[in-house]
Amino acid sequence: MIDKDALIAAARAASATAYAPYSRFHVGAALAFEDGATVNIVTAANVENASYGLALCAETVAVSQVMAQGVRGGLLAVAVVGGPPGPDGAAQIGGAPVTPCGRCRQVLNEIAQLGGTDPVVWSVGGDEVIEMRLSALLPHAFGPANLG
Ligand code: THU
Repeated sequence: MIDKDALIAAARAASATAYAPYSRFHVGAALAFEDGATVNIVTAANVENASYGLALCAETVAVSQVMAQGVRGGLLAVAVVGGPPGPDGAAQIGGAPVTPCGRCRQVLNEIAQLGGTDPVVWSVGGDEVIEMRLSALLPHAFGPANLG
C-alpha cells in the first residue's frame, strides 16, 4: 500500500530543486517502486534549457534516474505537483492539477510495461487530486511488447 500523502509531499519537496528559470513553473515528481517487500521512492524535478524546447519534465528525469540505476520495473505509483515557486523554492500548489504531459506518459509507460504494472498517477492541484491509472492516461500505449 502506497502512502498517497507521503508521495505527494515527496513530489512537492522535490519541486524545490527544479531548474526552471524560463517558465518559472516548478514541477516535482515522486515515483514509488516495489522492490521485494520494500517500497523505494525516487524523486526529481524539471530541468530546463536556454534552448527552451529541450526542457526535461520532472517525470522524465525521475524515470531516467532510476533506469540509470538499473531498475526495470516495479513502478506502483506516481505523484506530480507543479506551480510557481514559493519562498522555499517548492511549488505553490494553487492551480489546476498537473497531469503528466504526453511525452512523460510514454516515458512512464516504458518502465511500467517492462515490469508489468499499471501505476496509479496522482496529479495534484489547488482543490483536488486527480487519480488515474497510467493505462487510462495513455490508452492503447505503444511499448516494449510491440517490439517483442
Ligand atoms: N513540466 C513537467 O516537468 N512535467 C509535466 O508533466 C508538465 C510540464 C515542466 C516542463 C517545463 O519545465 C515546465 O513544466 C513548464 O511547461
